[in-house]
Amino acid sequence: MYSEKGKYPLEVCFSPLSWPLFKKDNAVIIITDIFRASTSICAAFQNKVKSIIPVSKVEESIAYKEKGFIVSGERDGKVLDCAEFGNSPFNFMEPRLQGKTVVMNTTNGTQAINLVLKGNNLVGIGAFLNLHAICNWAMAQNRPIIVFCAGWKNRFSLEDTMFAGAAVDYIIKKGKGEFHTMCDSAIASAELWKNASSNLRVHIEKAAHRHRLRKMGLDDILDYSMQLNINQCVPVLKGIEIVDIAQSVNLRFRI
Ligand code: MLT
Repeated sequence: MYSEKGKYPLEVCFSPLSWPLFKKDNAVIIITDIFRASTSICAAFQNKVKSIIPVSKVEESIAYKEKGFIVSGERDGKVLDCAEFGNSPFNFMEPRLQGKTVVMNTTNGTQAINLVLKGNNLVGIGAFLNLHAICNWAMAQNRPIIVFCAGWKNRFSLEDTMFAGAAVDYIIKKGKGEFHTMCDSAIASAELWKNASSNLRVHIEKAAHRHRLRKMGLDDILDYSMQLNINQCVPVLKGIEIVDIAQSVNLRFRI
């Protein structure tokens, strides 16, 4: 499974702090923040939200609010004062958001997205919900792929790494020999996934952010977030916005 054969490298970056070591031009980056930003982004597109503007500074959220945008966001789980709602995927399922742009600002997820915003990379957002859809899109771009775990305040995060492992496993198996990995963090992620995938819900109990969410009474999203492939959205950065390009995804790697 792990070899140097295959045109394009597949790597996993465990934390924003390691990003300078992985950063390259002309790559596909799949950003994940399972609890909760990337899961919420998928929920938003399932609900036909038009676009999401990911921002990292509170002042940016305030400026967008003053211009009349719908603003969502949290810090350490607490809803931002300037935001209409926080970062639960259920917040993004409200019918009133359909066809609208939502500004999102989160502790880790939108910070990671903003780290890769500039440059000539293609950036997609992945969660368990859209695992195959986002990987199929990534493979169809014929470029190196980096799965970027948003983590927690620059630290390793178990749930993001489980997702990274699921993506590595899928891409290596379905990539028709075009992708290879000699990246230890990709291999470690895949090994973690192999161990956890048969009972994801049990393994997720070990994750630190799962306990943070429980303490704040925000863990009603666990079962929803752990579902595999219930959503075909392909959230991709276009300029400063994330849009769902699911309709235009190349079908070459679909099963
Ligand atoms: C984040 O971006 O750090 C998270 O999604 C935090 C959360 O909303 O629980």
